[in-house]
Parts: sequence; C-alpha cells; structure tokens
Amino acid sequence: MIELLNKLTQCYGPSGNEEVIREFIIKEIKEYVDELVVDPLGNLIARKKGNGKKIMFAAHMDEIGVIVTYIEKEGFLRFANVGGISPYFSLFQRVKFKNGTIGVIGYEEKIKEMKDLNIDKMYIDIGVKNREDAEKLINVGDVACFVGDFYENGNKFTSKALDNRLGCYILIEVIKSSANFSNDLYFVFTVQEELGLRGAKTSAFSITPDYAIAVDVTDTGDTPGSKTMALELGKGPAIKVKDNSIITHPFIKNLMVDTAKEKNIPYQLEVLERGGTDAGAIHITKGGIPSGVLSIATRYIHSPCETVDQDDVKNAVLLLSAIASKKFN
Ligand code: CO
Ligand code: ZN
Repeated sequence: MIELLNKLTQCYGPSGNEEVIREFIIKEIKEYVDELVVDPLGNLIARKKGNGKKIMFAAHMDEIGVIVTYIEKEGFLRFANVGGISPYFSLFQRVKFKNGTIGVIGYEEKIKEMKDLNIDKMYIDIGVKNREDAEKLINVGDVACFVGDFYENGNKFTSKALDNRLGCYILIEVIKSSANFSNDLYFVFTVQEELGLRGAKTSAFSITPDYAIAVDVTDTGDTPGSKTMALELGKGPAIKVKDNSIITHPFIKNLMVDTAKEKNIPYQLEVLERGGTDAGAIHITKGGIPSGVLSIATRYIHSPCETVDQDDVKNAVLLLSAIASKKFN
C-alpha cells in the first residue's frame, strides 16, 4: 500500500496537465483490465467486462495547483489558482513545475493584516535575477503543483495530493483484487475535477452507466477547534448523504450501508456543507444516473499536508470490492 500510494501522490498532475499521472496509472493497471481507453478530454477509462449492471467508479486524478499569469522584470512570477487554493495554506510553500523548476511562494510584506493576504499580493520566487532568466525556465501559462512529501506517521499518511490520488489508489486496488466481479465495471480516472467536475461530465455521458460511485476525500470535524462535522479519522470510510453537488440516491446509499453491514466494515455517514465531487456531475447526466460517493475523512484538505487514516483506506477498498461483486436484479 505505502509504496504505490507514495508514488501516486508524488506524480505531477494539476488539472488539465494529467499526462504524467495518467501514464503512471496505465502502467499500474493495464495487466488487470479488459479495455483501456483515453477519451478526448484525457479521462482514463478502464473496463472489467461482466454480464451484470454497468457500474462506473470514478476518482479524479488531477490535483490543485498554480498557473503563472505574469513575470515581473525582477524575475518573480505572479500566479492565479488552478482549483481551490488558499493564500494562507500557500504562503512559503514550495511549488514544482513540470520541468522540475521549484519556486517558493512569498508575499508583499507591506500588507498590514493577514486577512488582506490575497493571491494577487503573492508571487513565486524561482531564484533568478530577472525576467530574461525566468523566461529561460518558465512561460506565462505554465502550471505548478505543490511540493509535499509522502510519509507514514503512526497509523496515518500525510502528503500533498491525497486529494485525490487516494481515490485513484482505492480504484487501482479494487481493479487488482481477485474478487469475483459479476458486473460490467468501468473504472474512470477523471480529469479537471478541481475546476468543476469537467472530466466526470463527459465520461459519464459516453459510458451511461446504470449506477455510479465516486471516490474522493472529504473534510473532518476531529481537530482542535474545527467546525462541527460528524466525521473522524479512523472511524471507517464515509458514505456521503449530501454535499453541495449531490444528494446521494437512496438506492446507492442503502447499497453502500447494507454492504458495509453485511461485511462488517465500519462506516460513517457524511454531510458536507460545502464542496462537491465527481458524482455531482455524473448523476445529472443524460436521463439521470443513481449515484453516490465513498469518501475518506481527510485533515488539512488542499494543503501539502493532507492526512488520512490507513484503516479507512483498507476498509474503503473492501467495501468497494464488495459492491462491485454484488448481484443486482
Ligand atoms: Co480537491
Ligand atoms: Zn477531490
């Protein structure tokens, strides 16, 4: 588990730049699936054929990042967000471009109060003297991801991009599991979730599954002074009831809850007051697709130190494999 998840999190892949992470996943799963397609937007669709229902499992492979908007004559890079970037979380973090260039995010120190800290008052310092030198390394429009090593801390993992390489990892483990699947399974590694569920929209349209389950990280309420939320690390994978993009279809919610109970897998119920994920786009595709989400409670989402519990990950793989193997009428 540790080695594969480590490699997945460390792959470069901000939204719209998923080539590296996609190639890595292709190598990892190609021996285990019947069909492998990269669609026009870049979604990776892996199929394990079966006679039962058409089920789509989706995990986004893109991560948040920053995009260069302007290069100052002193060589500092101005930037905008790719996905949900917090100025506070970004300050003094390292970012890494596709060509390996690393920069540090600084800010205009004349800002009086930290509440005035906005991304347009920040810059990336790539260690050059002037614009000319910067342009030898970086162009306007280049995109960087955050730097954040993967490490194991007790029973927890911390890394950048656990949102959502963790979901990719869970799908890969289900693909590799020797479970006797009775359904027609589509494992979709989507692009551009962080920009508005874009890859999920097109892939769900072309597949038109009978049912869909997205796998993604979600918030917790288990750190000092955190907001009230009924999720804790280590209490089991979370079955989403509602977020801002979807109310889980009752059939899918019951399917997940009943399967967890049958298999004695711990689970928690999730209501997320802000945010959404791929299922939000999938369930309103074509005539409507009953959909839900299996979430992993995660601390410090969209920071380089996202943190999850190992047992929640293992139990998510067990629950998803059991659902994939179910016989439906
Ligand atoms: Co995210
Ligand atoms: Zn996500």
